[in-house]
Amino acid sequence: MTDGKTNESKQATWGGRFEEAMDDVALRYSASVDVDKRLAEQDIAGSLAHVQMLADVGVVTQDEAGRIRKGLETVRERIRTGAMEWSDDREDVHMNVESALVEEVGDVGGKLHTGRSRNDQVATDMRLWTREACRASAARIDRFLAVLALRAEHTVDVLLPGYTHLQRAQPVRLAHHLLAWTEMLDRDRGRLLDAATRMNESPLGCAALASTTFPLDRAQTATTLGFDRPMRNSLDAVGDRDFLVEAVSALACCAVHLSRIAEELVLWSTQEFGFVVMSDAFTTGSSIMPQKKNPDMAELARGKTGRVIGDLVNLLVTLKGLPLAYNRDLQEDKAPVFDAFDTVDDTLEVLTGALAHAAFQPAKMQAALREGFLDATELADWLAARGVPFRDAHHVVGHLVAKAHATGRTLGELTLDELREQNERFDESAFAALDMETAVERRDLPGGPARGRVRAAIAELRERLGARGVDLTAFDVREEP
Ligand code: ARG
Repeated sequence: MTDGKTNESKQATWGGRFEEAMDDVALRYSASVDVDKRLAEQDIAGSLAHVQMLADVGVVTQDEAGRIRKGLETVRERIRTGAMEWSDDREDVHMNVESALVEEVGDVGGKLHTGRSRNDQVATDMRLWTREACRASAARIDRFLAVLALRAEHTVDVLLPGYTHLQRAQPVRLAHHLLAWTEMLDRDRGRLLDAATRMNESPLGCAALASTTFPLDRAQTATTLGFDRPMRNSLDAVGDRDFLVEAVSALACCAVHLSRIAEELVLWSTQEFGFVVMSDAFTTGSSIMPQKKNPDMAELARGKTGRVIGDLVNLLVTLKGLPLAYNRDLQEDKAPVFDAFDTVDDTLEVLTGALAHAAFQPAKMQAALREGFLDATELADWLAARGVPFRDAHHVVGHLVAKAHATGRTLGELTLDELREQNERFDESAFAALDMETAVERRDLPGGPARGRVRAAIAELRERLGARGVDLTAFDVREEP
């Protein structure tokens, strides 16, 4: 517990209001510098913008601002080179930087915080950090898309079963399947960039909650920091964190997509499927079973998704009971945000690498097409195209499937007589409809798996990536399926 003595360092921090030293446990409990020192660059950028503005509106002199700027640059250099001594006693990144500044430049450093509170300071730092993080994750998604676009180019000829209910349903092209993954991830990219755009407003100048008496130029600091405009309401600016909820929601959705992809890779690498062999660099063995090659990266991608969903729930629950404006609970926003970005960024990178070199197995996919009556719809469509109501055609083919199944044959191995027993319209040409390649090629609608559609989709994806400045020649991917 406290010793009841006046704590000088505490008075230096909080001023004359305090007489007792802070309890050690309370200090450790409330210090956040271990986590939030990650905001140091943003914090200093915010301070540089603020102090220049203070000078421009005449609250400090240009000379004072110049000395503070130099001091901040020195502290920044110290942080970049790892020479900064972070201290729990100084609670968080803001106070560590400010104390280091005052040590560097003397009392004039104390003028930096004029018209500012840590409340608008931390909100500004988090917006700057998260804006950049959204853009960086979006760029990682682009690399993931680029690898899939290249793999799709080499897998247009490969057919595999498409599934519903995890039951073989209809044949599709492997490239079509890979392109489906790109659609999911491209929407996540859009959500991240939308969040970055919406959060791009400046809380700076809102101070603790009610702005300040100093004639601050909020538009100037907003512009200096690359924000589109100052936030409209000071209570909202310091008290809300919906911009983090949005970004982490987008990450959670992205993680869920990556997890679904990972689940397919796990399934596909089983002996039961055998559709893919992951490269050695992205698999592990077993310490007891010599034959094992486990798709651990995909499993971890699936597993780590739980963390990201947890990060989102963490944020939402932190916010749900908070009155306006700032509450110290908000300090807890950082760990889930950093964790969500770190986890999704790592997962993207690992899966990008794994997919660049995974060996798809066309022969296994082809073999899977032979069992499971994936051509049943073809036969029903054949009848429906000849005037039989589709519901009746469905019924007829159901009987044929049952017959083939009972006698261990495929639909193509039934005789024409057996077909005609169920419906007299059948003739020899019905058998041609049962070819898998034909089945895929006949699905020639926008968004469908016919070769021309898939090639066009790849070209369109290439163009989209090119317009974003992604250089597809820069990726090293396996050229065979
Ligand atoms: N470390 C705090 C946070 O992250 C900074 C703001 C503290 N403000 C305050 N009034 N105690 O939220």
